[in-house]
Amino acid sequence: MVLAGDQLRARTGQGPSGHRRPVRGISFQVRRGGDWSVPQARIRVEDKRLINCESVDVNQLMPLKYRWAWEHYLNGCANNWLPSEVPMGPDIATWRSDRLTAAERLLIMRNLGFFATAESLVANNIILAIFRHVTNAECRQYLLRQAFEEAVHTHAFHYIVESLGLDEGEVFNMYREIPAITAKDEFEMAITTDVLRPSFSTETCAGAQRLLEDLIGYYVIMEGLFFYSGFAMILSLHRRNLMTGIGEQFQYILRDETIHLNFGIDLINGIKEEQPALWTPDFQGHVRDLMRHAVDLEIAYARDALPEGVLGLRADMFQQYAQHIADRRLERIGLRAEYGAGNPFPWMSETIDLGKEKNFFESRVTEYRSAADLRWD
Ligand SMILES: [Fe+2]
Ligand SMILES: [Fe+2]
Repeated sequence: MVLAGDQLRARTGQGPSGHRRPVRGISFQVRRGGDWSVPQARIRVEDKRLINCESVDVNQLMPLKYRWAWEHYLNGCANNWLPSEVPMGPDIATWRSDRLTAAERLLIMRNLGFFATAESLVANNIILAIFRHVTNAECRQYLLRQAFEEAVHTHAFHYIVESLGLDEGEVFNMYREIPAITAKDEFEMAITTDVLRPSFSTETCAGAQRLLEDLIGYYVIMEGLFFYSGFAMILSLHRRNLMTGIGEQFQYILRDETIHLNFGIDLINGIKEEQPALWTPDFQGHVRDLMRHAVDLEIAYARDALPEGVLGLRADMFQQYAQHIADRRLERIGLRAEYGAGNPFPWMSETIDLGKEKNFFESRVTEYRSAADLRWD
């Protein structure tokens, strides 16, 4: 069932002219600028909605309705780290030595180039596209945390480039100069274009589907598929004791991204639950098309980054890995698997699980500045 404009307006409390009428006596406009005023009545938790909510004050975090969003926020906060905590001395020595083959250097450079701008793409999509349209305070609290983590990740790539004395221009321009990277980023940017328009709204079925498409494009495909191939490439070197500083940075990023992915899937499934009419067979088919296209882009990227393969890694293994990951992601948003491919890197699952153990990241510096340390000199 597709909601017609009137039905959607009835749900959202919006009049046919686009003028928002007060809902339950609250003249507070949640999502857009303009007539902001403090609502008169206390909010009811059951009125909270992930999108298209006009009746609840988004400035008020409590009472919580979506506990998963708050849990993801707390888990994210428990994972504080900074790139500069990771010693890069061994990597500098390895990079200057002849321990790395030309193929391994290419693999490292391609992944630095891809992630260096992909992290910023994700951050900008959160702030400029997603945040405006999520009308739930606990989800926005998580989005603020995630945006900070994406900034830390971009920082990590600058820190690596600086530590190894790499050409900053080469790494940060790969997204426009290396076709396999450009293709993945253009795929993502195209998904955001409509959502970025000032006139964009989720009040129509087509608009809400566009936002869902954006969430799937970033959480499920960018962070859930494209990033995981990169993690497997770099962490396979780490397993061979090569470039362990970069490997450790990637382990921290992987730990954060696992939560980003889980939050995104909870948000997508939550919106589907709130507005089942959005999840039409046509839209499901569109999501499957997007995923198939993304897998093709990822395979092209693997061929570019691994033209001859390196010890234990070949491009065709990444074809299988991308298909395997795509299947898992499709299943988590309620779609059937597409490829039936096995996992060529079972150790990746172990790496993700290890991230949950407290002592896994024991090499980090944990002396964060706390309230007790605050001085005003
Ligand atoms: Fe990230
Ligand atoms: Fe992320």
